[in-house]
Amino acid sequence: MDIKITRTTSPRPKPADPTKLGFGTVFTDHMFTMDYDTERGWHDAEIVPLDDLRIHPGAAVFHYGAEVFEGLKAYRTEDGSVQLFRPMDNMQRMRDSAERIQLPDFDPDFLLSALLQLVALDQEWTPAVPSASLYIRPFEICTDIDLGLHSIGKAKMLIILSPVGSYLSGGLRPVSILIEDQDVRAVRGGTGYAKCGGNYAAANRAAARAEKKGYSQVLWLDGVHRKYIEEVGGMNVMFKIGGKVVTPALTGSVLPGITRRSCIQLLRDKGLEVEERLISVDEVMDALSSGAMEEAWGCGTAAVISPIGSFAYQDKAFTVNGEQIGPCAQELYDTLTGIQWGRREDPYGWTVKVPKN
Ligand code: PLP
Ligand code: COI
Repeated sequence: MDIKITRTTSPRPKPADPTKLGFGTVFTDHMFTMDYDTERGWHDAEIVPLDDLRIHPGAAVFHYGAEVFEGLKAYRTEDGSVQLFRPMDNMQRMRDSAERIQLPDFDPDFLLSALLQLVALDQEWTPAVPSASLYIRPFEICTDIDLGLHSIGKAKMLIILSPVGSYLSGGLRPVSILIEDQDVRAVRGGTGYAKCGGNYAAANRAAARAEKKGYSQVLWLDGVHRKYIEEVGGMNVMFKIGGKVVTPALTGSVLPGITRRSCIQLLRDKGLEVEERLISVDEVMDALSSGAMEEAWGCGTAAVISPIGSFAYQDKAFTVNGEQIGPCAQELYDTLTGIQWGRREDPYGWTVKVPKN
């Protein structure tokens, strides 16, 4: 399928100071859109000037949350080129998410080529300052105009781009975490492993309670036993306990993070032992109180590597590593961002160059 490209005739000004970018509020000049129906399949693939969507208020996405999304970044390297990090992993995960919600499947090679064309067109928007990047948000929604609960017949795929700075306002400053013991985010058999909007809506109440108490993020426990550590709102979690790195196993209710996968490989290649397994909240609290917990951090595309400075659970609170980033998280951050921003060699073939426009 060809992609029709209509360029904007009124390009908008780029952010005046890219060192002051927040996360996800500024958007580039263009977007990708493509429609699906059961008769024609995917059709009308277009790159057009960014604009509001015109969607009927009866569309099922507004009522029953049939939506999946992805998040990846384009990085400006020192030679001025722009590159992506493991983008095919995002395409594959989006197919898995769509399958869970029964949104129509798509050709990942085609979507990646559309994404590359869009980023190539708007590549001037990729910030050229440290730690800033161009965040890429593909998403797929159900556009059936139908308040009945039926299988999905119509959908829309979009990609929008946003120049971003740090996701967490403190950058690499360690965050404070509240371990949630009331609400749950996901259960095995549910949608936890999928990147669908409803998972994030389900997290809002606990996040609001945590924020009111002065915590930056919520750490979820599993929905059945309320006992095993799962993940943080927008990142996977890793602990360094007694010399080993441990991270929750992918049991079906945790998002299989691409940063998590990359961190595990980098850590193992540096000779560290990494265990993917069930970790109970009691084990974490014991490690914190005995001093065996050397470091803890979250990892994700938006959050990169985010050191955790403290945990609170019920009536107990502990700090980690004097609320400083530890050597393991720092080295991981340096290696990962080194590869992403092209400052270090990429022996894994994780990076993909965006063609010059
Ligand atoms: N967990 C959740 C709930 C997320 O939203 C994200 C962000 O995408 C992650 C983990 C980390 O995944 P990734 O490293 O692929 O960005
Ligand atoms: C990402 O890291 O790409 C995400 O989608 C997380 C989101 C909460 C910003």
